[in-house]
Amino acid sequence: MAKAKSRYLCNECGAESPKWAGRCPDCGAWNSLVEAPQTSAPGGRFAGYAGAGGGRGEVADLTEVGVAETPRSPSGIGELDRVLGGGLVAGSVILLGGDPGIGKSTLLLQTAAALGGSRRVLYVTGEESPQQVALRARRLGVGGEGVRLLAETRVESILEACVRERPQVLVVDSIQTVFTEAVSSAPGSVSQVRESAAQLVRHAKASGTALFLVGHVTKEGQLAGPRVLEHMVDTVLYFEGDPGSRFRVVRAVKNRFGAANELGVFAMTDRGLRPVSNPSAIFLSRHEAPVPGSVVMVTREGTRPLLVEVQALVDASPLGNPRRVVVGLEQNRLAMLLAVLARHGGVPMHDQDVFVNVVGGVRVGETGADLAVILAVLSSFRDRPLERGLVVFGEVGLAGEIRPVPSGEERLREAAKHGFTRVILPRANAPKRPPKGLEVVAVSRLQEALAAL
Ligand code: TYD
Ligand code: MG
Repeated sequence: MAKAKSRYLCNECGAESPKWAGRCPDCGAWNSLVEAPQTSAPGGRFAGYAGAGGGRGEVADLTEVGVAETPRSPSGIGELDRVLGGGLVAGSVILLGGDPGIGKSTLLLQTAAALGGSRRVLYVTGEESPQQVALRARRLGVGGEGVRLLAETRVESILEACVRERPQVLVVDSIQTVFTEAVSSAPGSVSQVRESAAQLVRHAKASGTALFLVGHVTKEGQLAGPRVLEHMVDTVLYFEGDPGSRFRVVRAVKNRFGAANELGVFAMTDRGLRPVSNPSAIFLSRHEAPVPGSVVMVTREGTRPLLVEVQALVDASPLGNPRRVVVGLEQNRLAMLLAVLARHGGVPMHDQDVFVNVVGGVRVGETGADLAVILAVLSSFRDRPLERGLVVFGEVGLAGEIRPVPSGEERLREAAKHGFTRVILPRANAPKRPPKGLEVVAVSRLQEALAAL
């Protein structure tokens, strides 16, 4: 009799290898390989995935492939539609990740209720009892008409229920609690999460069901379980931001049907998540008078410009190795900017602790924040506030040059809309006709920007 072949999966990255090793050959993590039973190849059981060529291996000319707009149905929650790229796509799979208690179940229950009126929705709860879900629905003040509820963690039973109910929207809360009989390991383990998700995804693709999967996030800030989940789905949404704050930011980390990095902003109220339609207003703290170390910048996340406040605190360090702490920005970027400031601005920081924070718990991933960070650091170091009504954006290069960023005009319009009166920006971003009421200071070197203050 042929011996059943084993395979090994990495707990960190989900890579597969034929034999065990102390270190994952793919991602280099130690002690992360676990044995997984051999399962049939994907597609073997569900041969009818009609989404791509009907599974018959037909080849077509790229030019002949129809490019009809993907039909989208709005979820009824504006900010969610924005991160999804305009609405739900049939057969698409959306992974919603975030820290415990940040509002994943709340958002999906609200979405399910909003959709329930017009389409068949099946909400599978693996973490909470139906009573708990019903209690939350009551608290949210949603009727829940048209939302079918199933408390189940066995994938095979979930799929059977899907065959009976034929939902158009399926929510599985959460992927870590479900298990499939095809794999013998415990729920939440890598091979379980991977195989269960694969079965649900295959069902979604084959039946055209829009599938929401809830995923937990580990302490390191990654989705628990293998990273392969991110590859299997069409869209990855993350709740980010500070759980202590009232505001919740949902970011599209990946989206096959829309712009990546799109942000949706919500406020957590006692009746659930409310969309915030003018998020610029909430990321600016209202200081009575200008304070040192605070600079307002215009960032552009996804397709929307956003005004955010960057704060810096610079203080003489008692340590031989001064501290550099950033929240909401990239750590290495700060080290680089401080070096540029020392070399091209003539302001050394080697004996100063530097703390930088983006107000409101939003993460700024783009380089357009560079100039704001440098000016905030300098303002705190000199203990001199910047003028009221000033807004900045621009990338800073290692040679001390100020480089342009995308969508300059859009950023200017956002600044003018919120009553800012003066903007420092890269020369290449300077508009021919500045918006009314906005004085434009175009700079091409760091020294010019510092002189403009
Ligand atoms: P929940 O959606 O259960 O989080 P997750 O599924 O991501 O773990 O969110 C629970 C938190 O939200 C909890 O701390 C209470 C808070 N909350 C409100 O503030 N208002 C509400 O209307 C609801 C339903 C929850
Ligand atoms: Mg939950």
